[in-house]
Amino acid sequence: MARAAPLLAALTALLAAAAAGGDAPPGKIAVVGAGIGGSAVAHFLQQHFGPRVQIDVYEKGTVGGRLATISVNKQHYESGAASFHSLSLHMQDFVKLLGLRHRREVVGRSAIFGGEHFMLEETDWYLLNLFRLWWHYGISFLRLQMWVEEVMEKFMRIYKYQAHGYAFSGVEELLYSLGESTFVNMTQHSVAESLLQVGVTQRFIDDVVSAVLRASYGQSAAMPAFAGAMSLAGAQGSLWSVEGGNKLVCSGLLKLTKANVIHATVTSVTLHSTEGKALYQVAYENEVGNSSDFYDIVVIATPLHLDNSSSNLTFAGFHPPIDDVQGSFQPTVVSLVHGYLNSSYFGFPDPKLFPFANILTTDFPSFFCTLDNICPVNISASFRRKQPQEAAVWRVQSPKPLFRTQLKTLFRSYYSVQTAEWQAHPLYGSRPTLPRFALHDQLFYLNALEWAASSVEVMAVAAKNVALLAYNRWYQDLDKIDQKDLMHKVKTEL
Ligand SMILES: *[C@@H]1O[C@H](CO)[C@@H](O)[C@H](O)[C@H]1NC(C)=O
Ligand SMILES: *[C@@H]1O[C@H](CO)[C@@H](O)[C@H](O)[C@H]1NC(C)=O
Ligand SMILES: *[C@@H]1O[C@H](CO)[C@@H](O)[C@H](O)[C@H]1NC(C)=O
Ligand SMILES: *[C@@H]1O[C@H](CO)[C@@H](O)[C@H](O)[C@H]1NC(C)=O
Ligand SMILES: *[C@@H]1O[C@H](CO)[C@@H](O)[C@H](O)[C@H]1NC(C)=O
Ligand SMILES: *[C@@H]1O[C@H](CO)[C@@H](O)[C@H](O)[C@H]1NC(C)=O
Repeated sequence: MARAAPLLAALTALLAAAAAGGDAPPGKIAVVGAGIGGSAVAHFLQQHFGPRVQIDVYEKGTVGGRLATISVNKQHYESGAASFHSLSLHMQDFVKLLGLRHRREVVGRSAIFGGEHFMLEETDWYLLNLFRLWWHYGISFLRLQMWVEEVMEKFMRIYKYQAHGYAFSGVEELLYSLGESTFVNMTQHSVAESLLQVGVTQRFIDDVVSAVLRASYGQSAAMPAFAGAMSLAGAQGSLWSVEGGNKLVCSGLLKLTKANVIHATVTSVTLHSTEGKALYQVAYENEVGNSSDFYDIVVIATPLHLDNSSSNLTFAGFHPPIDDVQGSFQPTVVSLVHGYLNSSYFGFPDPKLFPFANILTTDFPSFFCTLDNICPVNISASFRRKQPQEAAVWRVQSPKPLFRTQLKTLFRSYYSVQTAEWQAHPLYGSRPTLPRFALHDQLFYLNALEWAASSVEVMAVAAKNVALLAYNRWYQDLDKIDQKDLMHKVKTEL
């Protein structure tokens, strides 16, 4: 007892000193948006700051954001982001952590449709695919593969940097640390330019690369090379999705974090205290009325550009003012059609002989980007994909809502059509500069990274970066922010 007393006193003094010195953890954190970015950052923030910090997550729509499902004929189907690359390491971790499972894969063949005929067909035999690619396009596809692999290999460095606690305050700093000026340059030049330079032919770009970019971004080979390379990587690896629906990752992370989800639209963030640590007032409105609350840290996990669907969030009291609303988004419409495919349109008068489950398109026909015969989010072991002559659920992705005449072209007849309209990805090229994560001392913009490349995993990477940035800034660990030559530092730390 006597011996314990001095130790206790010393501990108390130490704790008091820590509190007075500003080393106490933050009290309250606000996250605006409960999509994958917002849910993941809530989880990472709690991981770093500990379980006692209160995290409020504001969501104006539904938890999951661009991860969503629609019910057709009593089954649920993905209506937003449908699948992930096997190297999506943060997403893989979340699934494991939450006790979720990968959905069983039901194989189906893909092909690229060029308006009159199929440009490229996947066969059942891998070697034959390679042979055909070689026959049609020579060495182009190997060059493409090497180009994509080099980008991915460098991008994967981010996981190592993050495991060592390093964070970046801007998208440019982050890209530079991974791929130096090459990566930054790749956000300023087009996919087509970059590929032509490494010897990929224009024909291969027009026939194959464009179709993949249209399928993932609804954009052309004129889009920036970095975002393009990331989406082409997705077309090569094996893909997976979450049993029960991808959105379960978001709701699962929020539940695990015990985050306080507030269903409201955030209207403004105002800077209050400028002495010592900043204090932010977050104002919001919902059907109950208007209200506000104060926070030590605020993370914006939703796009900030102005358009019809964004929340028109304003920033007040900041000098210099924060005005990050440049750029616009590429709308994408997903239509889930329950009906019979018009296989004649694709040159197969007999639907029984139609061999494809996934159709990509070149820029003609222009009214749709992809057409997929999809499976529900929960499938039993005995599940088999619907045959083309049967009524099936097809997912059509298009730049604009489909007209009745267009639906009548693609389908012989249908029972139902349900649509989801997404501001899916940034319209690359609509913004002159790369945005920053740090908008103010403890005010962060997670979706900044979408302007380099946009995918679910990229948002999870941005979430980890923002959580580390907030943590390193809070405890003034400046050696862990915007460091150069990290490859070398990380090696010597090991
Ligand atoms: C940037 O990329 C373009 C197109 O790939 C290339 O022509 C140019 O030389 C690159 N510039 C630098 C500084 O790397
Ligand atoms: C679908 O899968 C999820 C996750 O495995 C499970 O929680 C849910 O009960 C399943 N639903 C149905 C209808 O089988
Ligand atoms: C909430 O605030 C907005 C302005 O931000 C105002 O237009 C609206 O009338 C307010 N609503 C209520 C119920 O006070
Ligand atoms: C906003 O909506 C109007 C009408 O619904 C539409 O004409 C306009 O293009 C939309 N603007 C943006 C930026 O999406
Ligand atoms: C956002 O502001 C624009 C005009 O600045 C307006 O047209 C739009 O309806 C607003 N959107 C929302 C969701 O309030
Ligand atoms: C199906 O496609 C063919 C060929 O493009 C077209 O002539 C026909 O009108 C389409 N619709 C139906 C219902 O067959």
